[in-house]
Amino acid sequence: MTSPLLQLIEENRWEDFQPLMDRLQAWAFWPLFLEKLRSLNREALFDSRVHGPGHIERTMLHGAFCAMEDALDETDTALLLECCAYHDVGRISDSMDYLHGSRSALRLGALTARTGEALKMMMAAVDAHSRPDEELEETLRGYHPADWQRCLRLAHLLKDADGLDRVRIWDLDVAFLRRQASREREDFAEYLFGRYQRLVQMPLEPPFPPELTARLAAKQAKRNALRHRTPRYNG
Ligand SMILES: [Fe+2]
Repeated sequence: MTSPLLQLIEENRWEDFQPLMDRLQAWAFWPLFLEKLRSLNREALFDSRVHGPGHIERTMLHGAFCAMEDALDETDTALLLECCAYHDVGRISDSMDYLHGSRSALRLGALTARTGEALKMMMAAVDAHSRPDEELEETLRGYHPADWQRCLRLAHLLKDADGLDRVRIWDLDVAFLRRQASREREDFAEYLFGRYQRLVQMPLEPPFPPELTARLAAKQAKRNALRHRTPRYNG
């Protein structure tokens, strides 16, 4: 099956983001990322315009950036990329659903052939990704990971990678991202989504009822206005 993201990577024309992508392609684990993208089990993915293969490919690329910026080792880079790949396989609809992460987690063993601690950490991170932030630590503790910091980092980076692709539903608020380096990739996330959608000939608007799309657009416009606001000084 074809991969639009691989096509974009092969074209290697990233305009303003060329330096960013050049840095990623010079990263020690770039070949590992390519291998994970090529071996992605597309049959297993949820079939949807919102949480389907496009979202998964982009989340994997954001995950690669997260792994590089956090200086993850090879093992944890692979675990993070696999979490990105299969975090939404438990979805049954595009609606708000706090439990799809726990359903996805149950399929990770079969999909990745991971066992033991590695599987435990991945399941914890994937389960936590769809729950409110206040429940993140409690969810992770439920899996009793041997290395708490490693597990927490995996969960945070999965949330950032997944969160960056909220640009597709006009609902990215970088204040919710956990790493400054992730916040700085907001413009890249928008660019990547735009390039991807043009390539697969899909619209940039989310496939939601018009009233919800209008609400999201208004929210996004307000955020953009704040983002580009010039500081005002008294006196
Ligand atoms: Fe997702």
